[in-house]
This record gives sequence, structure tokens and C-alpha cells, in this order.
Amino acid sequence: MAHVSLYRKYRPTSFDTMIGQRHIVRTLKNTILSGKISHAYLFTGTRGTGKTTTAKIFARAINCLNPREDGSPCETCEVCKALSAPNCLDIIEMDAASNNGVDDIRDLREKVKFPPSVGKYKVYIIDEVHMLSQSAFNALLKTLEEPPQHAVFILATTEVDKIPQTILSRCMRLDFKLLTTAELVDLLKKIFEEEGREYQKEALQLIAEAGDGSVRDCLSIADICMSYCEGQVGYDDVLEVLGASSPTMILELVEALVKSDVRSALETVEKIIGMGKNVSLLAKDVAKTLRNVVFAKNCVNANKILGLPIEIYNRLVRLGDACSNDKLVHMVDVFMDIEGQLKYSNSAQVVVEMAVVKACDLFVSIDTDGIIKRLKDVESKVRTLISLDSNQSNERFQLDVGEVWGRLLNILNKNKSMIVAYNAANDVDTKTQLSYKDNVLVITVFSDKQFAVLDYFASEFKSIICKEYFEITDVKIVLDNKIDEVEQGIAKITELVGDNKITIKKGE
Ligand SMILES: Nc1ncnc2c1ncn2[C@@H]1O[C@H](COP(=O)(O)OP(=O)(O)OP(=O)(O)O)[C@@H](O)[C@H]1O
Ligand SMILES: [Mg+2]
Ligand SMILES: [Zn+2]
Repeated sequence: MAHVSLYRKYRPTSFDTMIGQRHIVRTLKNTILSGKISHAYLFTGTRGTGKTTTAKIFARAINCLNPREDGSPCETCEVCKALSAPNCLDIIEMDAASNNGVDDIRDLREKVKFPPSVGKYKVYIIDEVHMLSQSAFNALLKTLEEPPQHAVFILATTEVDKIPQTILSRCMRLDFKLLTTAELVDLLKKIFEEEGREYQKEALQLIAEAGDGSVRDCLSIADICMSYCEGQVGYDDVLEVLGASSPTMILELVEALVKSDVRSALETVEKIIGMGKNVSLLAKDVAKTLRNVVFAKNCVNANKILGLPIEIYNRLVRLGDACSNDKLVHMVDVFMDIEGQLKYSNSAQVVVEMAVVKACDLFVSIDTDGIIKRLKDVESKVRTLISLDSNQSNERFQLDVGEVWGRLLNILNKNKSMIVAYNAANDVDTKTQLSYKDNVLVITVFSDKQFAVLDYFASEFKSIICKEYFEITDVKIVLDNKIDEVEQGIAKITELVGDNKITIKKGE
């Protein structure tokens, strides 16, 4: 017997076997049970998410004499039986990709006049409707404006942007969503069990993820995997089928990236590409592995979501421990950014190699050394200004403390790991908490929250503000009485700053 592909074999014939799209099923069920059928529907959404399947179920359901409780056709009444016959003329499927001319639509208009032969409605399912020519759209518009009572049109498209507004406004629009990986895994489990095939849990997760939200894509991959494997469908088999790079090599690459070890990262890229792996897939795999590290680092029991073999998962956890979230996010960004470039580039390998360098390197320029260098530049500019000014006035150049504080916040903002503290700091009145006069920096601490910030940044204050920007000879920290634990605060500041030049004053 010829092989029937899984996605055809398992095409749902009733609403209860469809996965996801609950919002759509619910709307249609209500329509069917209330009998308030519109004349035109527009089903939009990514490929393989159930548009044609739903249109077929709906077309039979509105004709069924005894629809089931969930709105599905009963399959047993005479109309249901007649409509499932292959030569039935009441449900007409038209592929607009190959019948896109005005004559095709004119033909449709001629035929739509004739009443249905068995049920109440004659249903036209026009697939890929965005492919119609302008004149065909115009002809269709006429029919949609004055349809015969018995006609129902279901237009389906993946590209709703190409449908003229005039058509859109005459249709009831339903948007099909991408399926989640969990929904796809559940479906795969059922199908594998029904087919009597053994599988590794992680293998199904991988297939579902490769489906990218499309049921058809997911089932097509499952189909290939089933044919590829003799017995059990394993994780490594699926990787082979997908042509994905071996996870161990990718992990090696990611480990090098985490360590900012450009040389070893580039060598690993070379090795992987040398093994004949697709460069775009490699970039995708790296981005995905980094994303998995983010999960492993931040979520308890992340492997419930990731569904990876335990030894791979453990390596991800270790990588997470060795890398900050900022750096991970930065690296994911770099590899996602090149996705578009890779599609059009003739030198994909170079694009990936440069991404590797960027992922390792760029981050380093955001570190304190870089910031201090920039502050030094500012300082020297300020000095030039002072010397220009000193001819005209003996008054000491006054630095704008507000601006200094702003700069500091800016630095903190860029250095995202300090974001929590930054947010806290940003909350407070920036004008009054920092002042500078006669080489003495006065930091006034008004609230516990702000104190926490100082606590966190005491060293930064010293190195960046005091040493690098100002010629501070003395720092005075004033703790406001409102602070709950002034005594403790003073002790802490002294401990942190550890400098006997610092005066601490309680209240002002
Ligand atoms: N929501 C769903 N639940 C269960 N199976 C589904 C679902 N959506 C799609 N499928 C499976 O995928 C196959 C293709 O679905 P369908 O033809 O309905 O997709 P489509 O949205 O019309 O795609 P296209 O835009 O490519 O025409 C079906 O035969 C079925 O096996
Ligand atoms: Mg379709
Ligand atoms: Zn029926």
C-alpha cells in the first residue's frame, strides 16, 4: 500500500481532534449552534496551522442535520454522508494559486447561483486567496456584496496583507495562531503511540521545536524520522535528519564564547563547517543553545521546559553559572541579528565568524575599564575648558553635579547587571543627593533604598567619581535621620569605603 503521509492521515475531521486554535473553534461552534452563519469568512495565519482543515470541518458542520455538542458534523446523518462522497458538488475547494484569473471567478459566479444539492449551504473554500489577480478580486467582490442566500465563502491565506481592504471588510476574519511546542509534543506522542513506534522523549521535543509552530511541518519531520529509523526514534536520529550540528560541538563553541575565547571559538566554527554543516543552521543552533543556557541559569527545573538529555542539560547549567545574563543576552542578540544577513550573503561563513568575534569582544568594551577611559576623556575636556576659562575669572570652575550623576546612571544603565540598583537610584531626587564644593564631595542619603544603592556602588563611587572624574580630597556622607538603621548604615559605609578621610554625619 502506498505510504500516506502523517499529516494527511491525521488530518482532523472534527473540532475535538484539532489542537490549539481554541478561540476559533469556540467562535465557529457558537456560529453553528446558533445557526447565524455569515456569508464570508477569512482564515489567516502561518502555513500548516489548520486553516484548510477547519474550513472543511466547518463546511460540513453548517450543513449537518444534527451537529454534535462541540459543533462538529455528526458524520452519520444523510447530509454528512453525502458530503463526504468524493464527487459531492456542494463543497467546492478552489486553489487560487492556480485559478487566479478573472475568468475563474466569473465561472464561480455563474455556478454559485445554483442551489446546493444536498444540504442547506453551498460552501466555496478559496485557498491561497492572496494569489488572485486584481480583476479577479474585483469580480469576487461583486459576489461577496450580493451572495445568494445559500452561499458561504471561506477565504484562506497566509498573507493577509495582500488582500484588498474592500474584501477584508466583507469577511469575518479569524486568525490562526502558531501552535506551542507543548501542544505539538502532545500530538506527536499520540501519533507515535497510534503508529506503534517507540521514541525518546527528547526526540519528540526536538521534532516539535523544529516544526516552528506549524503542525504540517512538524508532522512532515516526524514522518521522515519514522522512515529514517528502524526501531526507536532517538534524539540523535532526529538531529541527523534535521542536519543540525552535533550538540556537543555546539556546546563546545558556546563554552568558548562564554569564556570570550575567540581563538577556540573560531577553531570550533571551522571544525563544524568542515564537517559539512549548514552555516545558517549553525547560527540558529548557537542562538538556541544560548537561549537554553538562559533558561538553565534562571529557571528552577528548566529541563521541564527544555526537555534535553540530562548530560547536555547539566552542561548548560554549568555554562549559566559561568556567565552573566547580560552577556548571554548580548550573544543571543548577535546571532539573531545575522539571521537576515545569512539568507542573502554569499559568504555566510564570514558572517558567522565575525559574529563569533563580536559575541566575544563587544561585551568587553562595556566593562568598567572602557567606562573609566571614557570618563577620563570627559575629564580632560573639562580641564581644557577650565584652563580656557581661568583667564577670565578666578572662580573655580563649577562642575554640574546633576550631569555627573546623570552620567553615572547612564553607565549603570549600560552595565545591565546593575539594572536593579539603577532603577532604585533613578527613583530619587538627583539634584540634592550629590554635591561638590571645594574638592569635597557630599553624598546625602535620604532613604534606605538609596542607601542600598550606595552600598552597592561604594566602590564605583570611589573609583569612577572620586578618583577619575573629580579631584576629590574629601568625601562627606550625610545620612538622613529618616533612614531606619542609621548606626548600621554608618558602620557599613565605613567598612565599604574604608577611608578615614571620609566624614560621616548624622542628619544635617
Ligand atoms: N490545529 C491543528 N490540529 C491538528 N492538526 C492540524 C492542525 N493544523 C494543521 N494540522 C495538520 O496539518 C495538516 C495541514 O493543515 P492545513 O491544511 O489545515 O493547514 P493550512 O493552515 O491550511 O496550511 P496552508 O497555509 O499551508 O494551506 C493537516 O492535514 C493536519 O494533519
Ligand atoms: Mg491550506
Ligand atoms: Zn451530520
